[in-house]
Amino acid sequence: MTDEEVQDIEIQLVLEALRLRFGYDFRNYAPASLRRRVTQCLSSCEFTYISEIIPRLLHQGAFLDRLIQVLTISVSTLFRDPEVFRLLREHSVPMLRTYPYFNVWMAGCATGEEVYSMAILLKEAGIYDRGRIFATDINRENLDIAERGYYKADRWQEFENNYRLSGGQSKLEDYCHMDGDWLSFDPELKKNMVYSTHNLATDGVFAEMQFIVCRNVLIYFDGGLQHRVIDLFQDSLVRGGHLCLGMSENLDLGRPGHEFQAVSEKHRLFMAGYKRAGS
Ligand SMILES: C[S@@+](CC[C@H](N)C(=O)[O-])C[C@H]1O[C@@H](n2cnc3c(N)ncnc32)[C@H](O)[C@@H]1O
Repeated sequence: MTDEEVQDIEIQLVLEALRLRFGYDFRNYAPASLRRRVTQCLSSCEFTYISEIIPRLLHQGAFLDRLIQVLTISVSTLFRDPEVFRLLREHSVPMLRTYPYFNVWMAGCATGEEVYSMAILLKEAGIYDRGRIFATDINRENLDIAERGYYKADRWQEFENNYRLSGGQSKLEDYCHMDGDWLSFDPELKKNMVYSTHNLATDGVFAEMQFIVCRNVLIYFDGGLQHRVIDLFQDSLVRGGHLCLGMSENLDLGRPGHEFQAVSEKHRLFMAGYKRAGS
């Protein structure tokens, strides 16, 4: 047996310990990404073997947060892929405008940059007060950062560029302020945000949604889990509601039972509730 094959066994045992002890199910995550994440953490945890994670996890509850941090990738930015946000201004805002009240679900929102982007977008469309933004993630530490709305000040230029490229109609200074080494978002933007842990691998529908944004999360899942999550989104969306995925993620529009049609396939924006002929 090669070292890699032994490591695969160890990873399976770690995932089983995580599931049996804490109920987190990572078994359907893409194996290559999992392996990379786990092996990268060995030296920082001062372990030689992956299986050394198991006793630490089983007997020191506090290690759970560390392992979740290791297994999940939290990279995000304000108005990530700005042209997608341009498209949302053009296609999703008019759809939301038709509702007196609407719900937006940002699933896998990481540290919240995307949630503030959505809040700004809704503000500029004049419909922020009609909406509630449910921001969820499996990673509690990420959600705490998102809820605080503080980011390193050296990200200003990146945030500013993306805001402008996304078709921002004002100045970023109108929404966030420099505060020493930090930049902080206006508390007004937080008014209609609801943060909560939610695990896409195991949890169910929690409200009726007009719009779901789940970007750069499905790429870490295997095909079976991706289908489960798309089914969950389909069950959550109203007819005509929108689903936005990451630029390297896609929907199998021909899959039996799927009721989505593309608004922009290139930008991974879909509309729910439309059965394809013959399905
Ligand atoms: C790369 S970030 C994407 C952040 C943001 N959506 C974006 O595109 O900038 C992936 C996020 O998915 C979250 N995640 C991973 N597995 C999840 C699961 N089973 N349920 C909910 N969130 C999950 C991670 O914790 C992480 O915050």
